[in-house]
Amino acid sequence: MTDLAGLRLASPVLVASGCGGTGRELAAYGPLAELGGFVTRTLTLNARPGGPQPRILETPSGLVHAVGLQNPGLEGFLATELPWLAQQGARIIVSIAGSSLGEYAELARRLGGSPGVSAIEVNLSSPDAPTTGVFDVREPFHAASVVAAVHRDLPRGVPVLAKLRADVVRVVESARTVLDAGAAAVVVGNALPAAMPDGRQAGLSGPAILPVALRCVADLRAELPDAEVVGVGGITTAEDARSFLAAGATAVQIGTALLHDPTTAARVAAELRDGVPLHTGTSTSTD
Ligand SMILES: Cc1cc2nc3c(=O)[nH]c(=O)nc-3n(C[C@H](O)[C@H](O)[C@H](O)COP(=O)(O)O)c2cc1C
Repeated sequence: MTDLAGLRLASPVLVASGCGGTGRELAAYGPLAELGGFVTRTLTLNARPGGPQPRILETPSGLVHAVGLQNPGLEGFLATELPWLAQQGARIIVSIAGSSLGEYAELARRLGGSPGVSAIEVNLSSPDAPTTGVFDVREPFHAASVVAAVHRDLPRGVPVLAKLRADVVRVVESARTVLDAGAAAVVVGNALPAAMPDGRQAGLSGPAILPVALRCVADLRAELPDAEVVGVGGITTAEDARSFLAAGATAVQIGTALLHDPTTAARVAAELRDGVPLHTGTSTSTD
């Protein structure tokens, strides 16, 4: 069992936002209830069709993606995706983004009162945010105003997780600000800002970004020893997850690896639970 932000989780391994589909795609490979949590793709108040194709490209250094926050909107999510996830017994964490503080507050009110929602993850770090019309939170004080608005409008007991980018220069300052504004934990980090070959704003994720995210977790642990931190970025094995936990993360999220192998989260969770010994050497596979 893992305690995070006042929640008791079945495992320290969670599914990262946007990488587990609606949940149905992953449930075929193992019970969602055995994971620490399922973070939904980022929801906005109104449905969004997403950006132009191609949205995801494989490169030698990881996945480059510009999904453009494609999602069914709040009503679509409440009507179709949330009831199914709740039925699975999954610990549901809903990721949100808004175009204004008012929109964030409305998302918080509606989702916080919906049965099955355990926590809200505020996406403060979408790598293509400037082109997607979401509230600009590049400055920490803007991020803090979003967290404060969400925190204020959530029922008591529903924690706010603040998802930051793995910006080694500003992560401590950003984390301090959002924690002061009411976040119960920080999630670090999102995909690193990158570009599609045609120059569109995009994110880079996968093993290439692991050392950067790990550095952020270690810096947060050193500078903000009481902060609860969730590590995310490039995790593909139990050994990777252990590195984040050893650096001071309370839990980890797995994203890109699920697109290559949808069993990854269940496998890493089982290996952590069963205490499979650490691998030595540089192998990236635990098979
Ligand atoms: C295809 C794709 C879609 C994503 N969508 C979202 C999203 O909607 N919201 C979000 O906060 N992060 C999103 N992410 C970022 C991941 O949740 C994660 O933070 C990032 O990819 C780093 O972890 P990873 O290397 O394990 O993938 C997405 C990543 C990918 C690859």
